[in-house]
Amino acid sequence: MRIDLSGQVACITGAATGIGRAIAEALAASGACVAVNHFGQDALAASVVEGVRSRGGQAQAFDADVTDSGAVIDMVAQIESGLGLIDILVNNAGILLEKPFLEIAEAEWDRVIAVDLKSVFLCSQAALRRMVPRGRGAIINIASELAYLGRAEFTAYCAAKAGVVGLTKSLAREFAPAIRINGIAPGPTETAMLSLDLISPEWRAKELAIPAARAAYPEEIAATAVFLASDHARFYCGQMLSPNGGALML
Ligand SMILES: NC(=O)c1ccc[n+]([C@@H]2O[C@H](COP(=O)([O-])OP(=O)(O)OC[C@H]3O[C@@H](n4cnc5c(N)ncnc54)[C@H](O)[C@@H]3O)[C@@H](O)[C@H]2O)c1
Repeated sequence: MRIDLSGQVACITGAATGIGRAIAEALAASGACVAVNHFGQDALAASVVEGVRSRGGQAQAFDADVTDSGAVIDMVAQIESGLGLIDILVNNAGILLEKPFLEIAEAEWDRVIAVDLKSVFLCSQAALRRMVPRGRGAIINIASELAYLGRAEFTAYCAAKAGVVGLTKSLAREFAPAIRINGIAPGPTETAMLSLDLISPEWRAKELAIPAARAAYPEEIAATAVFLASDHARFYCGQMLSPNGGALML
């Protein structure tokens, strides 16, 4: 299966690291011109851009907090003047909070919901305002298998990701057939989010006790994103694809 995204502009949020970085690199390798969104990670974002350019691709970094409506609107306008109208939006930015439910402070809850869910609302609305008049576009939302499974001490994260699933399905119905909106619900993936800096050894061990007996590589999640961005996925509408090594069999 050959995927050619040349002539298309893709914006990937939280693309300086991890899955977002892999998605930006894979979309660029398929010919898309990529807008690498990051939040204050200039050096990391620049290395993604340099890497893409060194392989003959087109990329530019855009610093914006995707929980801030003004910053999102400015970013979309800057992408438009720098690279062109967004054809593909990947809502990937996310944060994790591992904490017993009774200890979560209101501000912590609000931040997780803002980064993991509100950002999808803000970026999708800003992009759709341009996609709708053109009658085309694709949006891919990164949720998590935990949206379906739930997890003790990951309540805010699971609630936000379940919200992303509901938002994806509702947007898909509202904007079909012109705009294709789907999502990915990855299983455990080898990024900073799965490192022991962010999660406990017990949780990491639980995460990896799955049929595949390992975490995914970010490139394996990125391959799903490239497929969903392409015409090969033209009959996919409101679907959540879940590369998860058998952790969850839908
Ligand atoms: N790693 C996993 O096991 C796993 C599993 C399922 C889903 N996911 C999801 O995949 C996505 C990517 O996560 P990852 O594993 O690559 O971790 P990561 O921490 O490497 O990537 C998250 C990115 O989001 C960015 N970000 C955070 N807040 C932001 C903001 N306000 N504005 C802009 N960018 C912001 C971070 O700077 C970071 O670059 C997340 O949505 C995450 O929930 C990850």
